Amino acid sequence: MTVPVVCTIDEIGSRLDADRRAGLQVGFVPTMGYLHDGHGSLMRAARAGNDVVVASIFVNPLQFAPDEDLDSYPRDLDRDIALAEANGVDVLFIPSGEEMYPDGPVLTSVSVAELSSRWEGESRPTHFTGVATVVAKLFNIIGPCRAYFGRKDFQQLTIIERMVHDLSIPVEVVGCPIIREPDGLAMSSRNIYLSPDERTAAAVLRRALDAGTAAIEAGERNPTPVTGTMAAVVGAEPLARLDYVAAVDPSTLETPNILGPRTQLLITAYVGSTRLIDNCTATIADKNRDA
Ligand code: PAJ
Repeated sequence: MTVPVVCTIDEIGSRLDADRRAGLQVGFVPTMGYLHDGHGSLMRAARAGNDVVVASIFVNPLQFAPDEDLDSYPRDLDRDIALAEANGVDVLFIPSGEEMYPDGPVLTSVSVAELSSRWEGESRPTHFTGVATVVAKLFNIIGPCRAYFGRKDFQQLTIIERMVHDLSIPVEVVGCPIIREPDGLAMSSRNIYLSPDERTAAAVLRRALDAGTAAIEAGERNPTPVTGTMAAVVGAEPLARLDYVAAVDPSTLETPNILGPRTQLLITAYVGSTRLIDNCTATIADKNRDA
């Protein structure tokens, strides 16, 4: 049996309210579709930890700038439904733009201040307000649940966690590991934009993260040489152009003067005209710490 698809806010809300009244725990996976195994891993995590799994597919216009790929964002609904079904989703919520924003642009928005303005926010100033606003709206529609997000979009995850905390939203946010292709490229709906040569070159992001991690594991505490090493790896790949690279505190997303025990390495680069984003956690081993 294929997964039921619900298109209206009223129907998905009343269905999940009935589930909760029956004592069932709801797991929720928000997506923009064109699903791959990164999304699949979130669905499997939701399946393992909850009684009812709902996933949403909505290409949210609020989070795209006018010059971005809203209109060309890849879509394949039949494949998405099959992937959701294979990963244990019980119901798909696929609202139209009209259903979500019947009055056109929203007047109300959710903005997670400093966390949204740096890194991705510098290159995409309106992006995270669009993300936080639609996720807050989806959380209100779905109701109390556990919601699954990938660490692939580390800054997004940090912002959603902070939004839920600041606004006391009754949702438990669960961060999940990054799923990668065999050569280390993080899975992304936008990888489809890459030509074969660009696809090969795109593994440079993972190589840069590995080089930064190796520098930290070798005892480097100054963030500048760490990010310099990472930038040099990207610089050596002719098809890639660095957007930003950073070594930050995982909770504040600020660059410390001296790296702490856990560092989040962030990297974004264009490969051809496709913008790719990746990150990893680097941990300083005890043996490298000052006494
Ligand atoms: P989308 O890019 O479709 O991603 C949906 C979820 O899948 C996000 O939590 C993202 O971090 C996760 N994801 C994507 N690639 C992944 C990978 N390789 N490994 C693990 N998880 C991965 O992120 C969005 O949509 C939107 O901003 C959304 C939150 C739905 C709001 O519109």
